[in-house]
Amino acid sequence: MISSEEVRKLFLSFFQTRGHKIIPSSSLIPYDDPSVLLTTAGMQQFKKYFTRQKDPMVDFGSQRVASIQKCFRTTDIDEIGDPTHLTFFEMLGNFSFGPIGKDDPKEFGKDGYFKKSAIYWAYEFISQLGLKIDYVTIFEGEKNIPLDNESYRIWEEIGFSSEKIKRRGREDNFWGPTGEEGPCGPTTEIYVNDVEIWNLVFNEYYQDRDGNLSKLEFSGVDTGMGFERLMKSLQNTETIFETDLFQPTRTILENSIKNYDIRRQRIVMDHLRGSVFLVADGLYPSNLERGYILRRILRRLTVNMYFLGIRVDSLENLLKSVVEKYLPFYSELKNFVKIKEVILNEINNFERVLNSSIKEFNKKFRESDSSETIGEKMFFLYTSHGLPLDIGKEILMSKGRQWDRFAQQRFEDLFKKHQLISKGKNE
Ligand code: ALA
Repeated sequence: MISSEEVRKLFLSFFQTRGHKIIPSSSLIPYDDPSVLLTTAGMQQFKKYFTRQKDPMVDFGSQRVASIQKCFRTTDIDEIGDPTHLTFFEMLGNFSFGPIGKDDPKEFGKDGYFKKSAIYWAYEFISQLGLKIDYVTIFEGEKNIPLDNESYRIWEEIGFSSEKIKRRGREDNFWGPTGEEGPCGPTTEIYVNDVEIWNLVFNEYYQDRDGNLSKLEFSGVDTGMGFERLMKSLQNTETIFETDLFQPTRTILENSIKNYDIRRQRIVMDHLRGSVFLVADGLYPSNLERGYILRRILRRLTVNMYFLGIRVDSLENLLKSVVEKYLPFYSELKNFVKIKEVILNEINNFERVLNSSIKEFNKKFRESDSSETIGEKMFFLYTSHGLPLDIGKEILMSKGRQWDRFAQQRFEDLFKKHQLISKGKNE
């Protein structure tokens, strides 16, 4: 079975051979893009090369680059625990900045390329790995943006029949921009085992802050392949959490838990890894913006560890398992002492809140409580014990109860009233 370490090497050398300069991942904290809190895609560090504010020949000696980029997305934070969602993940990507040269996949130069090379190479790389593409998708067009006939023809030329080239709309097959403005364009996407694993974006447009599209001076290529999803297909595992990327952490977890709950285990695996990387990039937990993202995942980590019966003192080994797996590729993880200190400090502080909240919760809650009463009690724990609602919901779930819309409504009503009172506007 092919390991993730081998796949990293294969990917980078595949594109290096084809004239790409290999660029290290940028930090999860974007240094040059105020429009986003965290790095969410491989193209982010290259935005200014797509717009020609920077010259790739000067900086990279090539119009082609490839990278394995650390990414962090919070959009799906509530889905974490299912088989495929993650906050932190890595994205394998190859990029081309205009002007476009010959666009011949057989020529391994340094000039810009476009759809033909990007699609042929993606197909070749996936085939080299021994994977079978189920189908691909292309952009079907909408009023100001035409159908992507060119990609359709290229897939056809490779040998895909028309049923295997599906047309999709803007929602699925038009990507970007990250943040409030930037390069964007139609995509063609590759599906393996019914999961989208590689997104090939053809950056032809620039979207401004008002949502207007204009043509970029030169079109470019921005591709992204989810590493964990790719490894799931290659290692033929049921979920991404059984791939070798999580294996050291999973082994420790399985040996230290008292309570077998697969959802919570996955949350722990995801949040451990994500927080290690955020802290390694210099982030501290706080109540503001990106610091709050870190605080939130560390709190969720604490709660889920609590319900799995994992003691905080096993945390050091869990953190080590992440660091050891990734240190060969990310030197920022070398300061283990600092990473451990920041994470343990936050977790220890939050554990006190959690323990007192759980005690209070156990005192207050009755099996027979209606949803509205649950909403009220949760509000009390929130205001007088500082228990965040998402953590309260976890405690509730551990009692076999669900947080429904009636509980939510009651909580929100009380919250609004409370805000009015604190603003001194109570009628
Ligand atoms: N930038 C594209 C994505 O994130 C490749 O999916």
